[in-house]
Amino acid sequence: MNVPKAEENTPAQERAIQKLISMLSEKMLKENPRPGHMKRDAHPKMIALLRAEFIIVENLPEELRIGLFASGKTHPAWIRFSNQLAPPGGDDVKDIRGMAIKLLKVEGKKVLEGQEDCQTHDFITISTDAFVTKDIVQFADMISALVAGKVRLIFYLVCHPKNLWNLLRANKRFGSLLEARFFSVSPYRFGERVVKYAVKPQSNFQTPIAPKSTQNYLSSIMERQLSERDYYFDFMIQFQTDPAKMPVEDLSKRWKEEDSPFIKLATIKIPQQKFTSEPQKAFGDQLSFSPWHCLPEHTPLGSVNRARKVVYHILSQFRHRENNLPVIEPTTLEINLP
Ligand code: HEM
Repeated sequence: MNVPKAEENTPAQERAIQKLISMLSEKMLKENPRPGHMKRDAHPKMIALLRAEFIIVENLPEELRIGLFASGKTHPAWIRFSNQLAPPGGDDVKDIRGMAIKLLKVEGKKVLEGQEDCQTHDFITISTDAFVTKDIVQFADMISALVAGKVRLIFYLVCHPKNLWNLLRANKRFGSLLEARFFSVSPYRFGERVVKYAVKPQSNFQTPIAPKSTQNYLSSIMERQLSERDYYFDFMIQFQTDPAKMPVEDLSKRWKEEDSPFIKLATIKIPQQKFTSEPQKAFGDQLSFSPWHCLPEHTPLGSVNRARKVVYHILSQFRHRENNLPVIEPTTLEINLP
């Protein structure tokens, strides 16, 4: 149907990927000088690593019973909430937040080479519905301006008003990340169709934003909220219904709900829990997420996702090597640190 056939990088996209690997690894070393702990380049500050359940709706209609969603099963999951900014700032700084979901006990070969037999399946989402740049070439240009310094970045953004607008729209403060909406922003296969993912809290309640200068208020509020009760999100997909209005290769364009509504496929239950132990924090730091950690029916699409396949793999290997730690894929909700 709408699934693009040519899913290979152009020479310009290939050059952008290689440039990103070298710029981002240099940036990581600069921000985390040796000897010391090497953090992720993006989303280095963890708000929480939580235990969750991913409860797939039973008896979905035929057209929604694709890949993972055919089973009607419940999967245990780890969820890592994060702030994007690197080097990390306080929770009171306007930022993009991450919700990275790692399902466990998912059977079937995965698409990421070398990890085909892992029983994990990742969904990576952020707290905005449009990416800053349209594709990976533009993203590499923006990162190149960023690493060259503030003046170059401002000049770049002034010359690219759409990117500037998306950046301003995306950077926000939140009262609690258990009450925020999250979006995959990039598209994925859904069998023979194309979708984006979204995660929406079931409750509309909004905790007021804490006064400024409370560095770790997002973790503290979550700690209090999860000591009191369970929290629930809906996991949803949005079908691409019109490739012109809902492009695969321009992530700066939001897919509007008026053009295609979100459809619920699963409930995410985050049970009441404690999550602040040092081993749990270290475990969250050690995990690696990748959009390519998925069943073939849900293969990532587009140039940004193709770049992420290589960049996440190489930079995760790099940070683990620097930290002298092995890359791990969890199989249970127990914390098994080597
Ligand atoms: C649709 C666009 C994107 C989204 C939604 C996204 C989201 C995220 C999130 C939520 C994380 C944190 C995962 C965790 O909790 O460990 C992450 C990590 C990361 N992202 Fe992205 N990202 C996007 C695009 C990119 C691009 C284009 C690059 C660079 C080419 C990039 C580079 C990274 C890196 C290096 C990490 C750390 C990986 C690791 O060391 O494990 N991201 N991203």
